Amino acid sequence: MARTHHCGALRLTDKGKQVTLCGWVQEIRDKGHLCWIDLRDRYGITQIILEQGHTPAETLQRIHSLGREYVLQVKGTVIERSAKNPKIPTGEIEIRPDSIDCLNPAKTPPFLITDATDGKEPLRMRYRYLDLRRKPLQQNLLLRHQATQAIRTFLNGKQFIEIETPILTKSTPEGARDFIVPSRLQKGNYYALPQSPQLFKQLLMISGFDRYYQIARCFRDEDLRADRQPEFTQIDCELSFVEQEQIQAIFEQMIRYLFAEIKGEKLPPFPTMDYWEAMEKYGTDRPDLRWEMPFVTLSNLVKSKPNPLFQHLPLIIAIKVTQGATKTRKQLDQLSTFIKENHPTVKGPVYLRYLADGSYKSSVDKYYTTTDFASWSKAAKAVPGDLLLLLGGEVQAVRTALAALRKEVIQQDKIPPNSDYAPLWVVNFPLLGWDEEHGRYVAEHHPFTAPHPADVPLLDTTAPQNVRSQAYDLVINGVEIGGGSIRIHTQALQEKIFNLLGFTKEQAQRQFGFFLDALAYGTPPHGGIALGLDRLCQMLGGGDSIREYIAFPKNNHGRDTMLEAPAPLFKER
Ligand code: AMO
Repeated sequence: MARTHHCGALRLTDKGKQVTLCGWVQEIRDKGHLCWIDLRDRYGITQIILEQGHTPAETLQRIHSLGREYVLQVKGTVIERSAKNPKIPTGEIEIRPDSIDCLNPAKTPPFLITDATDGKEPLRMRYRYLDLRRKPLQQNLLLRHQATQAIRTFLNGKQFIEIETPILTKSTPEGARDFIVPSRLQKGNYYALPQSPQLFKQLLMISGFDRYYQIARCFRDEDLRADRQPEFTQIDCELSFVEQEQIQAIFEQMIRYLFAEIKGEKLPPFPTMDYWEAMEKYGTDRPDLRWEMPFVTLSNLVKSKPNPLFQHLPLIIAIKVTQGATKTRKQLDQLSTFIKENHPTVKGPVYLRYLADGSYKSSVDKYYTTTDFASWSKAAKAVPGDLLLLLGGEVQAVRTALAALRKEVIQQDKIPPNSDYAPLWVVNFPLLGWDEEHGRYVAEHHPFTAPHPADVPLLDTTAPQNVRSQAYDLVINGVEIGGGSIRIHTQALQEKIFNLLGFTKEQAQRQFGFFLDALAYGTPPHGGIALGLDRLCQMLGGGDSIREYIAFPKNNHGRDTMLEAPAPLFKER
């Protein structure tokens, strides 16, 4: 038998057993007459002890020809350790070998295969297969496996069926560029890789499948960040004959189930927040509610007196930093620099210190009275000891800047969160946004999202941007984990939306004719959602990037530096 046990299995109760283990050399400690080998596999580490007088001479000799990461087969007896190691589960035993066979030698790895390695990320990416030998990454992939299984168990239990959809397909608009694959058989024609299985899952509803899911690989050619990969995985779902609230309830239940299964964590109920409320209070459609700190609008109060800095700006908003009045000049300067460097169009921050003795100190003292400052403080529900930070500017720019400043202050002051997890639904997104560059409307979610029934008449007015959609996002700790919508299920409405999005009838027919046709064949009302599996795993397991939960990710330039992909095409041999 190649092995009788793995390297994390043996305990003191196995003392005396003859065993065979296989694994990699983690470390060799050689004291001449006494040597130890730490043998590692994905289950753990077992110590092998070689001792003059106990170990056959040729086995003892062999140790000098071994090195780190060699693959060994060790046959021997389980004995009790004299010096026990309580830190590892196998720490009470060791193996006294009869034989050690080298199954394969190894070159010295370019970095340490240890939990805290000395290898920097580019090197580890180049040798990803070695990085994946390290325990933190092995645990991440195990977590991903467990999460995927839990999700399947949950969805299977709710009558969802798993169906695969094509990878070689036609463009599905999700707001990114497509990856294109040339066809050999149909020269001059191209497939697109799916940005999501959106149209296929809707077609499956038309086919009557009723509840579908897929752990689906998606491809998007867009700028990359820590939470974005060009290929990533969605838990993609679609349901027929449902209302938005039902979909939210099912997927809230799924997320709770997942957190309970994987982390033993009981999540609080998910509140629902209107998109506009999120924008007004937090400046973003994915607020991080682990901290309160909502925005306070001070435009009228601040503009009641001439203040050259803020006078003609459309929006002046503030955040209150609880007990922040003692911030040093240097800390305030750091915040000013942060805004200047990252949000140069925005004015501020102006600060107002509400001191412990009830007096005020501000960077705009000369323009305002104590009564003015008292009114600002009241609006922000500030108490002595608190600090207000004000920014002014164009509506969206100032909201974005204050959202960033809120984050920066939380980091600077290391403000503890109110909870570990703050999930919420953001709902009532606008259906359309205005694309300045191309001078046309674009779908905020995607073009198949249904408008709010009450707002449908607005589609025919001059202000279709006021139409709300039946789209919803699931946000946890400020991260967009998923998004979905109730879909348009009539051909007429779908044509109308294409038209509003600037498609001519011919263009709509050329790109989506098959789908418009399908809608006319008895389409059930339906809706769905897709959750980012990579982001969900990172949320469950922590870490800095979704890359840590993907076996073979791309770097931030979209490159796989191990394969050296993408690469120029070579002629076939
Ligand atoms: P959306 O585009 O919002 O919706 O995507 C759903 C979720 O997928 C994740 N995600 C990503 N994760 C990693 N890297 C990326 N580049 C990336 N892009 C998106 C996010 C996001 O919330 N078809 C619709 C869903 C639907 O309407 O049912 C869609 O794809 O977590």
